This record gives sequence, C-alpha cells and structure tokens, in this order.
Amino acid sequence: MATTSASAPTPALTFSEPGIWALYAVISASTISSTFAGDQLNSGARSLLNLLLIVCAIACLSIAIALTRWASPGGPAWGRLARGGPVAATAKPIPGPHGIPILGSLLSLGPLAHRTLASLSQKYNALPLLALSLANTRVIVASLPSSAKEILTSSCFADRPVKQSARRLLFDRAIGFAPYGDYWRKLRRIAASHLFSPKRIAEHEVHRQAEVGCVIDAIAGHLHGSNALSGGVSSIELRPLLQQASVNNVMVSVFGKRYGFDVDEAKEGKELQAMVREGFELLGAFNLADHMPALGTFDSQCIKQRCDALVPRVYAFVSKIISEHRQARSTMMEDEVLSEKSDFVHVLLGMQAEEGLSDADIIAILWEMIFRGTDSVAILLEWVLAELVLHPEVQEKIALEITSIVGDGNVVRDADIPKLPYLQATVYETLRLHPPGPLLSWARLAIHDVEIAGHHVPAGTTAMVNMWAISHDASIWSDPLAFTPERFLDAYGAGPNFDVRGSDLRLAPFGAGRRVCPGRAMGLATVNLWLARLVQQFMFTSDPVHEVDLSEVLKLSCEMRTPLCAKVSERWS
Ligand code: HEM
Repeated sequence: MATTSASAPTPALTFSEPGIWALYAVISASTISSTFAGDQLNSGARSLLNLLLIVCAIACLSIAIALTRWASPGGPAWGRLARGGPVAATAKPIPGPHGIPILGSLLSLGPLAHRTLASLSQKYNALPLLALSLANTRVIVASLPSSAKEILTSSCFADRPVKQSARRLLFDRAIGFAPYGDYWRKLRRIAASHLFSPKRIAEHEVHRQAEVGCVIDAIAGHLHGSNALSGGVSSIELRPLLQQASVNNVMVSVFGKRYGFDVDEAKEGKELQAMVREGFELLGAFNLADHMPALGTFDSQCIKQRCDALVPRVYAFVSKIISEHRQARSTMMEDEVLSEKSDFVHVLLGMQAEEGLSDADIIAILWEMIFRGTDSVAILLEWVLAELVLHPEVQEKIALEITSIVGDGNVVRDADIPKLPYLQATVYETLRLHPPGPLLSWARLAIHDVEIAGHHVPAGTTAMVNMWAISHDASIWSDPLAFTPERFLDAYGAGPNFDVRGSDLRLAPFGAGRRVCPGRAMGLATVNLWLARLVQQFMFTSDPVHEVDLSEVLKLSCEMRTPLCAKVSERWS
C-alpha cells in the first residue's frame, strides 16, 4: 500500500479546526469550574479541578471531531477536508466506507486488497470511483475502464506516493518512484533507448534462449536423473527454475553477467537472490507508518531497521560491479563501449557526466531494473503453466500450433511468436485472470486538484486502479472466471485482436499513460518465448500429491500462494 508524499493544499482555518476547539474547550472549562466550585475549594483543588475539566473537554471534543470526520463518505481522511469550504460546498462526495474512526479502512483491507476493494466498490455502487481512508491517506479506487483511463492518462496523476521503504531503499532515485519531472523523464528516455528499444530487445534474444535452455536442461536432467521406473515422468517445483532464469535474464542485460546459483563459488548469486527477496518483502509489506507518519519513529514493524541493513549490502554489491565495469572501460575501444551490445552499466557510465548522474543514482537505477524485471516474468509464467496444467486441451492446442508453424525439432524463435496467436492469447488470458499487479503494483498521486468521473479529487489523493476488478467484470468479459484464450481471437483463430500494452483499459496489466511499464515489451517477449520453448519440449500434467492451487498471495506482485508443482514428461521421448 502507499502513502501520500505530497500534501493537500492547506485550507483556510475554520471553526472545526482542532486548535480552535481546544481553545474553546479551555475557556469553557475554566468558566464552568469557577461557576460551580466558587470559593468553596482552596486554590490548589480548584486548579486540579480546572485541569481535569480541561482534559475531559479536550478529550470529548477530540472524540467529537474524530466522529465527525469519520462520518464523512470515505472515512476520516476525507472528513478532514469536508469543512464547509468551497470544495465541500460544491463537490459531489465520492461514495465509500467510513471504516473506523481515525484508522478508516486501514485494518479491513485484508491480505487480498484487490478482492476486498472490488467487493467494496460493488457494495457502495462505486465502480467509477470509491473513496476510502487508510488512516491519514485519502484514497480513490477506479474499477471501470473509463475512470481508470482518466486517472492513468491524466498528467495530474503522473506522480507516485513514495512508501517509506521505497525511499529508504533509494527507489526514489530510480524510475518507478522518482517524482514526475525532469529527472524522471531523463531516466525514462535513457532506459527507452538503451534497455527497452525494439533493437535492444531483439539483440537480447540470444540470452533469452540461453536462459530458457538452462531451464529445459535442468528439467531434463531431473527427468533423467529420477528413477527410470517412473517412465520419464517426474514431479517438479517450477518456481525456483523460473526465478533463477528471470534473475539471470535481467542480470545479463543490465550487468552483463549471470550467476549459476547451485555451485559453491556462486556466493554472489546467492547474495543477489537474498537481497532481491528481502527487498520484495520490504517493498511489498503493508507498512502502518506509510499512513500514520507518527508511527514512523517507533518502527514497530522493523521496516526501517531492515531497509537500513539492506542498503549497504546493495551498495557494496552494485558498486563492485560498477568498479569492474570502470576497469574494463579503460581497456575497451570507444565504439565497443558505446555499442548497443554493451550492457546497461556501460551505457549509464558512458553518459554519467553528460546526464549528471551520481554513482548513487546509477546504483538506484540498476537495482530497480533487477528488481522489477525479476519477479514479474517468473510470476506470470508460473500462473500460465498452472492454468495449462488445469487445462490440458489448451496446452495441446499450443503444442499443435507450434508444431504446425515452427515444425518438430526446430527451436522456436522470437520471429515465430507473431505467428503463434493461440500462444499469445493464452498469455493474455492469464494476464486477465491473474494480473501480476492487480492494483497495478504502485499507486499514483494527484499533483493538483482534478475532476475524475464527475467528482472533485483534491491534490495529495492516492489513486489506485483495480485492474483485477476490471478484468473480472462480467459486464465487460463474458464468463469472466473461465480460462478461455479464444476470447482474444477472431472466428478464424487470428489475433490476438487486443492491445494489452495500455491503450485499452479493459485489460491493461502494464498500466497506461506516462508511467506505463517501460519493460512491457521485454516482459512479453520473454514470457512468450519461454512458454513456447517449454511447451514445445515438455508436457505439464497434474501431480495428484500436489494439486494445483490457484489461491493468491499479494506481496509486491500477486503470486501463487502454493508454488506450482507439476508432473513433467518429455514430448518427444
Ligand atoms: C510480466 C511483466 C510485467 C508486468 C505485468 C509489469 C507491470 C507493471 C505495472 C502494472 C507498472 C505500473 C504502471 C503504471 O503505474 O501505470 C509497472 C511499472 C514499471 N515496470 Fe513493469 N511489469 C513487467 C515487467 C517489467 C520489466 C521486465 C521491467 C524492467 C526490467 C519493468 C520495469 C518497470 C518500471 C521501471 C516501472 C516504473 C515506471 C514508472 O514509474 O515510470 N517491468 N510495471
């Protein structure tokens, strides 16, 4: 969850301000005490009585104020605004739950916030816009394509609320959490031309092939190593293999090196995996201090402490790689350094002076890429494979499509993917049913007052898009709970006739607008190719001992709660 970093404009002081009420309470209490106590009490007792009455009056008034604020639609954070000012007088309130006084809905979102928010939007008839309070944080949630589009494509929401953990882990110097402005634009430009350009993605195919080759070898090794009596069928937990391939895939592109995580000398690889895991947990954790800044000092969830312990490890790790690159550059020819084939560290070092990037900026940028690129791809692929185990007919259709287009024995290449519509439709359908970021991972923040879906939304409001609710909406998707890749194809099996990259908000798992995911083409290229290679090689079937469990756990992304375990056999044995 997120916290607001920009504050709402300060409204004029009104009669409902706590300070005015407190003053009023003090004066009233003094008057009451002198009226009733008269001269019968000595001055010490009278002072004590005064004090007690003042404390009681302040407590009563605080409770009254908290209740008044809480009574506002959307709860206490919205109530703080409703003070009879110009906004409150004209604005149509956004419907939403009150929650409980002071905390609002902070404690009631539960572990699967996207599902709770979807039910609340239905309950309050607030699909276009729902208001709620997470303690001090004013939140709106859009669960319709129209209002989602208004938010995501508005320049007003080009900023993000920065979580405490993101700030402490340096992410506010990287693309995802950098404030909207020149620095963020510069980072997007550099990444778009040197990491995510179509040319660069195409050049990276050789590494994508190598990484999926390692996964295939590992599975085959497992099959051959497991007892021959099983008939070459073995149950395998796929997550570790997919995660390792994802980390290495991004590592090669960004740092120019990969790690073998199983061998002893791969201490660095293990350290990297441990750091990424710790970072995920910290960024994905629901941190009370994000919504009640006063709690930040106590660090009751130890988030600050854990972030502060992680940062020096990240610094040491990435700084070492940067030094290795600096050393290598002294012996490289200039055209080699500038070559599109050089990794992202070389690119950033090459433009460090010209673009005014500090070493700390470079570390943050590199670290974020590893972070973002690692989880999303492995998580999505695990969901796809889980659905294929549950739907063998879909798996067979993909295998047939590959055979008819690529031929038996030929390795699927990037260039084949556009000719495999059913495979792409299967990935789209998985993105619809299991969007890795059901609330689009990172929220947006209103930079200034704005109108959304006919409602006034004040500056400083955190905006979320419930992509999960939209992609499960029965008025948009027929039979929304069914896994039907065909819905993305036309009657002749051509397609997919849909753009998931942010232009059609009925399914925009990569977000949309200025802050749309810059890694979407790279992510889709990887998932499509790896899926094709895996299905071409293996059959994945249900393991009766570890039935597929589609329940979710929402961390930074929405993962399978129980890692996928499937029986695997070679297609061509
Ligand atoms: C299946 C793969 C992926 C999914 C589903 C995904 C999803 C998302 C989503 C929903 C957002 C927020 C967009 C918004 O606010 O509108 C995002 C942002 C981002 N993603 Fe991805 N992503 C994927 C792959 C990647 C990869 C491979 C990389 C990089 C290596 C990456 C880097 C980023 C970055 C840097 C941002 C922040 C953009 C900004 O704030 O300007 N993503 N992603």
